[in-house]
Amino acid sequence: MSEKPININDFQRMKNEGIRITALTAYDALFAQLLDEAGIDLILVGDSLGNVFQGRETTIPVTIEEMIYHGEIVARSVSRGFVVVDMPFMSYQVSLEESISNAGLIMKKTGCKAIKLEGGVSIKDTISRMVEIGIPVLGHIGLTPQSVNVFGGYKVQGRNNKQRIIDDAQAVEEAGAFAIVMEKIPESLAGEISGKLSIPTIGIGAGPHCDGQILVTQDMLGLFRQYKPKFVRRYAELSDSALQGLKIYVDDVRKGTFPSDEESYD
Ligand code: KIV
Repeated sequence: MSEKPININDFQRMKNEGIRITALTAYDALFAQLLDEAGIDLILVGDSLGNVFQGRETTIPVTIEEMIYHGEIVARSVSRGFVVVDMPFMSYQVSLEESISNAGLIMKKTGCKAIKLEGGVSIKDTISRMVEIGIPVLGHIGLTPQSVNVFGGYKVQGRNNKQRIIDDAQAVEEAGAFAIVMEKIPESLAGEISGKLSIPTIGIGAGPHCDGQILVTQDMLGLFRQYKPKFVRRYAELSDSALQGLKIYVDDVRKGTFPSDEESYD
């Protein structure tokens, strides 16, 4: 993979050439730089920062100012990856005018390359208008966490209402989104949609037949420990090693073995 910055057209090319898209989340400069160095194609400043960074139960309280704050930090820290910022709950649902002006604000203030919206048929016109005026959109269907209160929990979607998910996917593609995140839907349905759509699909809890995969970085590195969804694979156990180091530090300070002479000034 070249070190050239990823361009919006690269995602379609990757789907056409059968190259799977890699995507992860970042909310701060440290992780944004690590993800970029590791070769992650799409770096999402997700509103999952409400759970992971702010320790909240849901993403619903996350504000547009918070997304802009984290989005600007991440966009400025990345040189190759394609940075997408989530639009938070109620920043694109009230009216078309307000949605457009909020999306424009996020693009201008963060320097991100695109924004992500949750929903399908119900926000088709909003996506369409944004794309028309130059705001690239990443769609998000299936389990859309901002609608957790309508779903009654973080349940698999599309088991009993397969057609609703297919209609949502088609609406997002027709509206002009450059790609679509599909969250927590059966793998056979994700495969069927990935075959039907011409734009790339990026799965999270949607099985192996998507055109790419995304996870929350803190989940896959074992930093977020409150719960582990079935679809998360842990590639490291960072909280274990962090906790071990922290306990040794407490011990060293109590015993007076830190700092040593070498760690002190004359
Ligand atoms: O907010 C987020 O991090 C997301 C991903 C989990 C897709 O929407």
